[in-house]
Amino acid sequence: MLLEVNNLNVYYENIHAIKDLSISVKEGETVCLIGANGAGKTTTLQSISGLIPKRSGEVSFSGEDITKMKPHKITRSGVAQVPEGRRVFTNLSVLDNLRLGSFAISDSIENKQKEIEKIYARFPILKERSNQRAGTLSGGEQQMLAIGRALMSRPKLLLLDEPSMGLSPIYVQKIFEVIRALHDDGVTILLVEQNANIALSVADRAYVLETGKIVKSGSSQELLDDPDVKVAYLGA
Ligand SMILES: Nc1ncnc2c1ncn2[C@@H]1O[C@H](COP(=O)(O)OP(=O)(O)OP(=O)(O)O)[C@@H](O)[C@H]1O
Ligand SMILES: [Mg+2]
Repeated sequence: MLLEVNNLNVYYENIHAIKDLSISVKEGETVCLIGANGAGKTTTLQSISGLIPKRSGEVSFSGEDITKMKPHKITRSGVAQVPEGRRVFTNLSVLDNLRLGSFAISDSIENKQKEIEKIYARFPILKERSNQRAGTLSGGEQQMLAIGRALMSRPKLLLLDEPSMGLSPIYVQKIFEVIRALHDDGVTILLVEQNANIALSVADRAYVLETGKIVKSGSSQELLDDPDVKVAYLGA
């Protein structure tokens, strides 16, 4: 397993937000965490990347125990998170946003430049808008920038928090085409989504999270066919 989370518990003061959560992601897989508002999806991702403290449980990544590691070290070990709501630096240029994505990792200037070229090849719109302030991009373009910024650290695992949130249907399609392309290129992805239909169409497997607990897991097809999942998450 590339990522293994075992019996994770997270609290906000006395609120038990994540309850004995265990999930795993194999190299090359796209795994989705489905859940309603407040289920604990963001909390799960933030605690994997070290941004929220864990009360108990273990997280291992690439064979290394990262449970107590600081966020920048977790980034360096190969985990990159695309945060909920994108959070690009709106006053900085597109290019400077990308540069910040590899700020924490030690790599030569040449390699970082090559990475920018690869991201421009993947997202031609970002190349066109290279010198433009990120705040002037559309929501969908900002999502591409946020993904590009995360890719700058050449992660082994990409954590995506609701990439489709607030986007028009056309951009939702575009973003999921990007995710599918990343998956085809072998990038390992842990995806969090409320839009279960589209998430299950790209993911290999999924977990269903309800009030901090995993209540179901299986292949995407199994969950698409599951009557309870259909009613609760697929708008059936
Ligand atoms: N900083 C915080 N302080 C206190 N409670 C919090 C905090 N952040 C989240 N929570 C609570 O923890 C639970 C899980 O929240 P979380 O943001 O992880 O859910 P989510 O599944 O990402 O929801 P959404 O789909 O709305 O993004 C919720 O009950 C939320 O109210
Ligand atoms: Mg969230």
